Amino acid sequence: MVGRKVAIIGAGAVGASAAFSLALTGTCHEILLYDIVPEVAIGKAIDIAQSTNYSPRGTVVKAAVKPEDLTDCDVVVITAGVPRRKEMTRADLLNINAGIVKEVTGYIKEYSPDAVILCVSNPLDVMTYVVHQVTGWDRNRIIGMGGALDSSRMAYQIYKKTGFGAAQTRAMVIGDHGENMIPYPEITNVGGVPLSQIVSKEDMDDIVSKTKDGGAEIVKYLKTSAFYAPGRAISTMVESILSDEEKVIPSCAMLDGEYGYTDVTVGVPCVIGANGIEKVIELEFDEETKAKFAKSVEAIRANIAILRDGGFFN
Ligand code: APR
Repeated sequence: MVGRKVAIIGAGAVGASAAFSLALTGTCHEILLYDIVPEVAIGKAIDIAQSTNYSPRGTVVKAAVKPEDLTDCDVVVITAGVPRRKEMTRADLLNINAGIVKEVTGYIKEYSPDAVILCVSNPLDVMTYVVHQVTGWDRNRIIGMGGALDSSRMAYQIYKKTGFGAAQTRAMVIGDHGENMIPYPEITNVGGVPLSQIVSKEDMDDIVSKTKDGGAEIVKYLKTSAFYAPGRAISTMVESILSDEEKVIPSCAMLDGEYGYTDVTVGVPCVIGANGIEKVIELEFDEETKAKFAKSVEAIRANIAILRDGGFFN
């Protein structure tokens, strides 16, 4: 583990929480924080560095003040972006964040050409597609973080229903990281016990709908989006890469024939290890899930088309 270096681009709420979580767990040797506003990266890097005195390992935490500082990283996490403001349409937001992701991906390509990239910026599935297009790298080296967070939100809802099995729940959420996400209770279990055997059909439906609402619920209370659970979901994925854990984590992957699709990035169960996505696991869907998955793919493709039609990929 010594010497493993992780950069986080975008030192906002999610990026800083991911850095803090990595520093707490001692996952890597060095963390670099980069932001378009260098003071933000510098200030948060100092704060997190000062927390490591009480961590299991003395993780080095530094700010990268210019793109050239992002050299030779093993993993680079992209959380840069702007939130949607009132006057913006969804297409405006899409174009702005795609521009930001394109810019920072250019830095990664130049200064950390051997990295695995973990994309977190929203809309997640489309931004992950942008990273693929900009790098042209092998598809295994680019992963989108969406399902890991949605699954932890589903696990939380399950615990609220059952009152037991916290941290023992293996939940699965696939599809897009947005309104068509597909919580998959049929293959979710608590300590190995199928969910369907411990909650009623009605409760299961409620878990699904509350999982889909997970992000919005936090915005309702905080007036800003979540960051602790996203930060922890990022760090667990980084751990799986750096320790070559080969964990099964629902992740946004570029499909190449799996599930009957190509040239689209969407959430599916993946094996995450040293090479990034080591394997895309193909589940056998029933007709209903097939239709839901098709809808997810359609929604992602519609957004990719907005970028393409605007000449973004030229
Ligand atoms: N280069 C580097 N950093 C940038 C750039 C850029 N071109 N543009 C914006 N940033 C930085 C901002 O300065 C800010 O510090 O990205 C950071 C984003 O942080 P927040 O606004 O706090 O947003 P956050 O809640 O962290 O979400 C970040 O992750 O989950 C997704 O939807 C979320 O797309 C959003 C991203």
